[in-house]
Amino acid sequence: MIVTIDGPAASGKSTTAKLVAKKLGISYLDTGGMYRCITFSFMKNNISYKEISLAKRHLKKLNMSICEKNETQHFYINGADVTNEIRSNEVSKNVSKISSLDFVRDKMVETQRKYAKEKSIIVEGRDIGTVVFPKADFKFFLFADEKVRAKRRQKDLIRNSENQSLEELIDEIRLRDKLDSERENSPLMKAKDAIVIDTSVMTIDEQVDFIIDAIRSNMKGKKNE
Ligand code: CDP
Repeated sequence: MIVTIDGPAASGKSTTAKLVAKKLGISYLDTGGMYRCITFSFMKNNISYKEISLAKRHLKKLNMSICEKNETQHFYINGADVTNEIRSNEVSKNVSKISSLDFVRDKMVETQRKYAKEKSIIVEGRDIGTVVFPKADFKFFLFADEKVRAKRRQKDLIRNSENQSLEELIDEIRLRDKLDSERENSPLMKAKDAIVIDTSVMTIDEQVDFIIDAIRSNMKGKKNE
């Protein structure tokens, strides 16, 4: 079974996907974390998204791995755990440019399909229901009011010992959504058959329950057909 969750920045996809996966006893994959890893590595090595051949060479050499530890997805670059570093605001500011590069997307999509092979999994991102798994069993699209999303992101950053004003975060989220939605290759888009969830006034538990109910009732419906 493949479940996809797409949606704009800070709409609660990762937390929701992780909890739904735990309740259903299946795997999950945070594809944004993968694009963040590549961005982090490019930044560390002073590679600009404009230096195409250098970026291609670097990507070829880059060894990214993912593993689950204490129920959290951990990301590694060449063996070093970068799970916290990739959530920094500097990475958030640069990730949309890097993730719009065709050769980066091709490699990530291939890795995502391989990772999901032969298992039941929830995969969350921007293009999962439209491009990566267009035939997924269940598709959801999460969104929320901009201010609510900025507040959620601010809380995440504080947990990571970073601070940023709400106004700046709203601007950054708005810009990232614009870049992600307007890029040519696999833009952020709702799949036609996705169930839309406005999480502005929902708690995480309510989001999780909504998705689990939708999956379970649909499964029952299928059995009775
Ligand atoms: O957690 P947050 O909503 O801030 O974003 P994320 O899911 O960590 O994704 C970070 C960035 O990766 C997005 O802004 C996109 O530029 C890119 N991304 C993408 O292009 N395609 C995906 N399937 C997932 C993320």
